[in-house]
Amino acid sequence: MGSEKQGFIWLSGLLFLHILALSTAEVLYYEFFVSSLLSFPPSLFLQESQFTKLCSTKSILTVNGSFPGPEIRVRRGDTVFVNVHNQGNHAVSLKWEGVKDSIDGSNELIQPGRNFTYEIELEDEIGTLWWHATSAWAAATVHGAFVILPAANEDYPFPAPTSDQTIILGEWFREELTEANQTIAPGSADAYTINGHPGETYGCSNDTTYEMQVDYEGLYLVRVINAIANETMVFGVASHSFTIVGQSGAYSRRSFTNSLTLAPAQVVDVLLCANQNVGHYYITARPSSGAHITNGILRYTTTSSLI
Ligand SMILES: *[C@@H]1O[C@H](CO)[C@@H](O)[C@H](O)[C@H]1NC(C)=O
Ligand SMILES: *[C@@H]1O[C@H](CO)[C@@H](O)[C@H](O)[C@H]1NC(C)=O
Ligand SMILES: *[C@@H]1O[C@H](CO)[C@@H](O)[C@H](O)[C@H]1NC(C)=O
Ligand SMILES: *[C@@H]1O[C@H](CO)[C@@H](O)[C@H](O)[C@H]1NC(C)=O
Ligand SMILES: *[C@@H]1O[C@H](CO)[C@@H](O)[C@H](O)[C@H]1NC(C)=O
Repeated sequence: MGSEKQGFIWLSGLLFLHILALSTAEVLYYEFFVSSLLSFPPSLFLQESQFTKLCSTKSILTVNGSFPGPEIRVRRGDTVFVNVHNQGNHAVSLKWEGVKDSIDGSNELIQPGRNFTYEIELEDEIGTLWWHATSAWAAATVHGAFVILPAANEDYPFPAPTSDQTIILGEWFREELTEANQTIAPGSADAYTINGHPGETYGCSNDTTYEMQVDYEGLYLVRVINAIANETMVFGVASHSFTIVGQSGAYSRRSFTNSLTLAPAQVVDVLLCANQNVGHYYITARPSSGAHITNGILRYTTTSSLI
């Protein structure tokens, strides 16, 4: 496969660019760039893949064969080159939700069999953004998180989390969506999903349930993305509350809440402290149209040495 070689070419190309731009930079900066670059693979493959949900199987357009698509992780201030290869049957363009930089060619449709490289120059964006296909019908399955970590010499302006977890709220349609579906009405999905899992409430025993595993007294940075085209979602975890720390690619004033209300395309970063009795708790995502609720599970896996 050419992808490794291509990765290497990108690596050397990016290093070269960066050395040019920062010829006076210290070793520290250089190392940050190398480690940051190694942590994000710069290519995405659009392809048709078979998925079974709600007890029926259909072919959907995916990125790298996964639903939702893979996460891209970078650091504040990075310049990111993402080479998108369209191996699917439809022309698609990607939108980088929340990126301030205007991206050349971002309206251009990538035809089947073609590839296109987005060059994204990050400024002060921090936290969580996301990417998705521009057209509503393709965006239902072609989307993923774009996580921007603090720069190597930066800390979070809040207590450092034990780890972080992305939660993408999505929707699933039994029928195939096509170019005819330029808009999607609220309440028209057959299921809502948490990281691709419809959960146990839809009555199909083959469906899987999303589980987030936590350690007792762990502090988690949870990045919640509403990738549902036309539905405001209410998100919560039983017996737990959240501290909101960021919204749509910026830190925000801290506030406490028991549930999050996310408009379509909205992203909220919260801290969740696993400080309840060891056990498991329902995660819920409820569409405002009143359609079916979906569930996941927050599961405590270990007990702390402190108790
Ligand atoms: C997508 O898949 C390609 C090929 O397997 C891989 O090189 C690349 O790292 C993947 N992209 C992401 C963002 O995981
Ligand atoms: C559900 O799972 C069972 C057992 O794995 C399998 O035989 C069956 O075909 C599945 N049904 C559907 C509709 O996917
Ligand atoms: C398409 O990908 C190839 C490597 O696979 C790369 O050399 C070329 O520059 C890419 N084209 C665009 C328009 O990004
Ligand atoms: C998609 O478009 C078809 C044809 O216009 C229509 O029958 C169907 O209801 C649409 N589906 C959704 C989810 O809007
Ligand atoms: C959301 O639904 C409304 C009412 O059906 C419709 O007018 C609008 O175009 C939809 N928006 C999207 C992004 O699908």
